Amino acid sequence: MRVPVGVRVGVFALIVMGGYTYFANSIPQIESKPPQELSLEGGNVTPAQLVKAGEEIFHTKGSCEICHRIGQKGTRAPDLAGIGARAGKTKPGMSAKQYILESLLQPGAYVVEGYPNIMPQVDKPPIGLNRSEVWALTAFLESLGGTVDVTLNDIPPTVGAAAAGGGAAAEVKLPGDPKAGEAIFAGKAGCIACHKAGKVGASPVGPDLSHIAKIQTSEYIMKKILDPVGSGTVAGYPKGVMPPIFGQTLTAKEYVDLVAFLLTLK
Ligand code: HEC
Ligand code: HEC
Repeated sequence: MRVPVGVRVGVFALIVMGGYTYFANSIPQIESKPPQELSLEGGNVTPAQLVKAGEEIFHTKGSCEICHRIGQKGTRAPDLAGIGARAGKTKPGMSAKQYILESLLQPGAYVVEGYPNIMPQVDKPPIGLNRSEVWALTAFLESLGGTVDVTLNDIPPTVGAAAAGGGAAAEVKLPGDPKAGEAIFAGKAGCIACHKAGKVGASPVGPDLSHIAKIQTSEYIMKKILDPVGSGTVAGYPKGVMPPIFGQTLTAKEYVDLVAFLLTLK
């Protein structure tokens, strides 16, 4: 029986991920110190303070700037200048506030034309913002050309539940060997021919991967290696240049080591 490549790749990925998730969860995990959390619940905060807090999150914990710029085209995502104004006109019947919140919490619900569906949910790892932070960030985005009218009640109470109590710790820890993975990246797999990754490589053919683990889930990274086109093409880069062969050329151990290396890139 012929099995389509996509399905084979998918099944392979599931088996490898499933197996290693099981192991990963059975080994004790070293918790890294969670980043500083902002809590505004219960406190009195003016819209100006809220916007300022949101701006801070945009530039720091939110990691938004790795993909987005304000007033300048980013490499991976739309320019957010004027988002507070255009957000109210993007989806019929949806207010700016509703559209912005949807963009942050269900980025796949509406995908801006010309861009792939690669934006991570901001209240889940690796970004993992809490409810207050999503509130402030929404106020900041509204302030870019629009009116700040978001209240804490607009943010569903479930938002950021995964981030509470150390979102980063909830993420899958692969038992791969990052050092060995770095050698695969620079050697056998030849990723270095197209990608920079921290101190390794310098090629501009593909996106710089130096912060990939800060902005993308392990699921995305794992899938992208096995099925580059099926994962969506990063804006500003050509489609079909990243070879779809790694599911065949890498052993399971090499693949897991490689992913472990990529997950160190923060
Ligand atoms: C991995 C890259 C990436 C990161 C990180 C990222 N985004 Fe995005 N974002 C995108 C892409 C690509 C789109 C366009 C596709 C879509 O609509 O999902 C987008 C769309 C959006 C939109 C809708 C824009 C429009 O013109 O309608 C908003 C608002 C937004 N992002 C805000 C943010 C904020 C705030 C952060 C930080 C918390 C963030 N994004 C982090 C990639 C990213
Ligand atoms: C021949 C050049 C080439 C090689 C070799 C290559 N890639 Fe890529 N890669 C690209 C290009 C171009 C893109 C952006 C277009 C796209 O999304 O397909 C990309 C995108 C990616 C992304 C998504 C980045 C983002 O910002 O979302 C990841 C992750 C990635 N590559 C990892 C790898 C790894 C790991 C290897 C080695 C196993 C590899 N690539 C080998 C060209 C290459």
